[in-house]
Amino acid sequence: MATNRAALAVSIALVLLGSVSAGFYDDYKIIWGAQNVVPNDATREVKLIMTENIGASFATKDPYLYGAFSVKYKLVSGNSAGTVTAFYLHSDDTMQDEIDFEFLGNSTGEPYLMHTNLFANGKGGRESQFFLWFDPTADFHNYTIVWNQKQVIWLVDDVPVRVHRNIHPSVYPRTKPMYVHGTLFEASSWATRGGAVPIDWTEAPFQVNYKDFNYQSCKVNNRNTIPCRQNVKSNPWEQPEFQELSTYQKQQLRNVRAKYMTYDYCSDRVRYPTAPMECSANAMAWAL
Ligand SMILES: *[C@@H]1O[C@H](CO)[C@@H](O)[C@H](O)[C@H]1NC(C)=O
Ligand SMILES: *[C@@H]1O[C@H](CO)[C@@H](O)[C@H](O)[C@H]1NC(C)=O
Repeated sequence: MATNRAALAVSIALVLLGSVSAGFYDDYKIIWGAQNVVPNDATREVKLIMTENIGASFATKDPYLYGAFSVKYKLVSGNSAGTVTAFYLHSDDTMQDEIDFEFLGNSTGEPYLMHTNLFANGKGGRESQFFLWFDPTADFHNYTIVWNQKQVIWLVDDVPVRVHRNIHPSVYPRTKPMYVHGTLFEASSWATRGGAVPIDWTEAPFQVNYKDFNYQSCKVNNRNTIPCRQNVKSNPWEQPEFQELSTYQKQQLRNVRAKYMTYDYCSDRVRYPTAPMECSANAMAWAL
C-alpha cells in the first residue's frame, strides 16, 4: 500500500455484532470511482469494477479500534496481471497504522500472489507473500483480519496464515482507530512479476465481488478511543482462541508457511541484516 497510497481507498458494508445494516451507503463511503462501486443491498454484495484507468475504492464511515473483520470475495478472473484487489484497515493519517491483505493479479492460468503487510506509526516494510491453495477467482473465499490486544492474525477460510505479536508500541497498532477499506486498482508498474507484466486494457472491465462483510469490532465514537482501548475480556475478538493459536492452528500455519509462502521479511537478511524486533516473538506464536 505504501507504494501507491493515493490509489488506495474504498469502502464496503458491514455487520456489527450481529446487527444487520440497512444498506451499503449507510455504512460505507466512496473514496474514488463512485461509478465503479455497485452495491446490491438485497444480496449484501458489492461489485467493484475497473475500466480503463478508473478503479474503485470504498471505506467504512466509522473507524474501529480492535476487532475481527471478515469479508468473502471472488477475485478478478482471467488475465488479471497488473490489477490489485485490497482489503485493509487504515488509520487515514500520514503516520498511519495499517493492516493489509492485497491480491496481485497474474496472467491467465498463473497464480495470484497474496501480499500481506502491517504498518505501525507510518512504518511498514513487513511484507509476507503467499500463493493460495485454491483458485481465488473460481469462488468466494473468506478473508479475515483479527486485531486484538495480543496479536494480529490473518486468516484465509479460517486457516491462520500469519501472526504479528504485540510486543512493543513501536511495532504494533495500539491506539489509532482504523477504517475498513476495499479497493480495486491498477498497479502495472509493480504488481505482477515486479512490473514485467502490465495490465491489458483490452480485458477490461475487471471485476471483483465482495460479500458477507462481518465485523465484530469496537466502533470509535466521537474520536473517544478510551472505551475501545480497555481490554474487555468479553469482547469476541479477545477470546482465548484469538489470543493464542491452538496446536491445530499452529500446524495449519506451519504448513502454509512451508508450502505456500514465497517471501517473509523476517528472513530477508539483505534488507534486514538483523531481524526486526517482532520476528522472534512472531515465530514463537506458531512454534509447537
Ligand atoms: C470467516 O472467517 C471467520 C474467522 O475465521 C469466521 O469467524 C467467520 O464465521 C467466517 N465467515 C464465513 C461467512 O464463513
Ligand atoms: C505470477 O505467476 C508466476 C508463475 O507463473 C509467479 O512466478 C509470480 O510470482 C506470480 N505472481 C505475481 C504477482 O507475479
